[in-house]
Amino acid sequence: MHIDKIKVNNFKNYISAEVRFSNKINFLFGNNGAGKTNLLDAIYYLSYGKSAINNFDSDNILTEKSFFKIEGDYSNKISYKCTYEEPNIKKIFENNDKYSKLKDHLGKIPLVFINPYDINLIRNYSNERRRFFDQLLSQIDKNYLDNLIAYNRLIKQRNAYLKSLSSIENLDRNHLKVYDEKLIKLNYYIHEFRREESKKFGKTFNKISSELNNSKDNFTILYSSNFNEKMGHEVFEKYLEKDFYTKKTNIGIHNDDYIFKMNNKLIKRIGSQGQQKIFIISLKLSEFYLLKEKLLITPIILLDDIFHKLDDIKIKILINYVLKDEFSQIFISDSIEDRLNEIKKIIKQVKIINIDKGKINEE
Ligand SMILES: Nc1ncnc2c1ncn2[C@@H]1O[C@H](COP(=O)(O)OP(=O)(O)OP(=O)(O)O)[C@@H](O)[C@H]1O
Ligand SMILES: [Mg+2]
Repeated sequence: MHIDKIKVNNFKNYISAEVRFSNKINFLFGNNGAGKTNLLDAIYYLSYGKSAINNFDSDNILTEKSFFKIEGDYSNKISYKCTYEEPNIKKIFENNDKYSKLKDHLGKIPLVFINPYDINLIRNYSNERRRFFDQLLSQIDKNYLDNLIAYNRLIKQRNAYLKSLSSIENLDRNHLKVYDEKLIKLNYYIHEFRREESKKFGKTFNKISSELNNSKDNFTILYSSNFNEKMGHEVFEKYLEKDFYTKKTNIGIHNDDYIFKMNNKLIKRIGSQGQQKIFIISLKLSEFYLLKEKLLITPIILLDDIFHKLDDIKIKILINYVLKDEFSQIFISDSIEDRLNEIKKIIKQVKIINIDKGKINEE
């Protein structure tokens, strides 16, 4: 799968821009603040109906405007369009037919975006890591997504009920039991799914990370949950008092984490910037392979500032890695001219897209 053309209006620092892409390698070149990441984010937006960088859509609108529009033509002759207008009206279209639900669009244009903000996956709390794996697993299995949505809704309702109680004497056990019976089934399903898929993912990840690493460092991912398949609804009874006083549900897959380790220690604590970068790239390339295998479509790859912090040997390994035939369309962004010239030498067919303050020039 590849994107042939994109058109953006009022998206971040772009008033109006249109650009055609190569179906192989595209190199976005420009100074800091030119709009390289913004353009990549627009491509990401067409795949996932949201920005990879901003949580609030209003931040994606060009200052002082009230809407943005992104349109893309794809290799399967389908065009997709995303529009957003204040206050909070988002629409996504496939060939001008509006989707009724965003989730119907997920998985249509698989894409992997590696960007400098990904470091948050290592540094931040477990919710970032869960979100990464949930977005991936939701694309490969709609049933997983439906169960996850149902689970999150139930947890929200259960917690709201706990918060509404003024004293533990008012707690209606039968009322909670209605939630708990459903939660146990969903916990069981989601836990099992995450465990199995993360095991497979981990194998791919180990392989890629050792290929990208020219050192002996050993990178691993470990799925961790306070739920296990032997638990029944009695576990909720056991935690009832704690749940009441903390006003939240203490047991369940909403607390899960994926532990990122280097040489058996948390990479967050001991990894250098370059090592953490290789970890993230390996993670995202594993995402690429899993999406490709399950969806039978080769995902588009966006590599934003990927070489920053990597030594020359790792850059060479990485470039050779993504030049393999199993990759399809690739976008690389950089602001260093020497690197562009190096890339031009190694990759014969590369489309250079110059960006300057929200204006695009194709070479
Ligand atoms: N909603 C918005 N309206 C107007 N300008 C915006 C908006 N959001 C971001 N920008 C501008 O976009 C520019 C940043 O663009 P971007 O992050 O794409 O730069 P870049 O080319 O990737 O730079 P770098 O090399 O530093 O990564 C900034 O100047 C920022 O002010
Ligand atoms: Mg950038």
